[in-house]
Amino acid sequence: MKTLLSGIKPTGRPHLGNYLGMLKPGLELASHNDYQSFLFIADYHALNFIQDQKLMRELVLEVALTYLALGLDPSKTFFYRQSDIPEIFELALILQCVCPKGFMNRAHAYKAIVDKNRAEGRDEDDGVNMGLFNYPVLMAADILMFNADYVPVGQDQIQHLEYTRDLAIKFNHIFGKTFKIPEALVKEEVAVLPGLDGRKMSKSYGNTIPLFEPDNKIKKIINSIKTDCKGANEPKDTEGNLIYLIYKELASPEETEAFAEAFHSGISYGEAKQKLYEKFIEYFSGPRAVYEDLKAHPDTVFDILAEGQKKVRPIAQEGIQIIRSKIGINRN
Ligand code: ADP
Ligand code: TRP
Repeated sequence: MKTLLSGIKPTGRPHLGNYLGMLKPGLELASHNDYQSFLFIADYHALNFIQDQKLMRELVLEVALTYLALGLDPSKTFFYRQSDIPEIFELALILQCVCPKGFMNRAHAYKAIVDKNRAEGRDEDDGVNMGLFNYPVLMAADILMFNADYVPVGQDQIQHLEYTRDLAIKFNHIFGKTFKIPEALVKEEVAVLPGLDGRKMSKSYGNTIPLFEPDNKIKKIINSIKTDCKGANEPKDTEGNLIYLIYKELASPEETEAFAEAFHSGISYGEAKQKLYEKFIEYFSGPRAVYEDLKAHPDTVFDILAEGQKKVRPIAQEGIQIIRSKIGINRN
């Protein structure tokens, strides 16, 4: 049976980019009986960015609620917090020892900070902590710990998957075949969903459409999507239009066709945004009801995560024994 695994770091409220790029495809595959699936909250990955006790607690809950509201079935999917599985951190340390430093110097997130520091005349490592530098190694440990075959992610994570593959190959070469070589699964049409300002939709840019805000806030956010200055009645292009792109992901093919027609015959952007808003609210109304209900009972959510830990930890404990024996750090 093939294994599927993905995670999300609790650094903000989950948004439409996370949904279309990772949560939707991940949850769809996880609901198939022919996969074994692991979906988790990468809380130690978030510690690089969130260094506030209260906020960390809130955001971990927010990510857990999001998975469950969108249909994650904890009786089918291994659902857990990364921090509940200490074997992952042991594996991360082991992988660090086969990971050349120069390799990490080329990681996008780290390199972008170094380049910015250089351009602005600061010390090149200004603001970089070791957690950020080692981020890709911890992510490799998340994936290799459970020998995942497939990892559904958005495009920005492809380099991390390449690092994971390289580290697995390197380890296997030194110590003998231990890890499977995982593959990223990236959905092409929404590999990089643009945000309100046209840059990649990301919690770090504050340009997101969060999934479970109150209606009036969603309306305001959708109304702030940047458009060109084509007036009412002027025919509009669907190609590259964010309102159309999102609508298409949430609506049926017939509705999408009618929406495209409306674009060509000159629907105003105001009206198009109103239609998108209505579709968004309709699409997420079921999940939102579950979200609200669970949010009022956070203990239930933490109990579900504790159950997840009970199921996942023995798998990791068995896995780490094999890895320890490969490297000669146990009695056998
Ligand atoms: P963010 O950039 O908002 O911090 P994360 O890094 O936590 O998002 O991403 C969680 C998952 O969602 C990853 O698999 C990532 O590739 C995916 N993702 C994030 N933003 C987008 C986007 N704009 N389009 C497609 N997928 C995305
Ligand atoms: N780095 C991912 C992100 O920023 C989150 C993540 C951590 C992850 N570990 C993972 C994703 C393992 C897939 C598999 O979104």
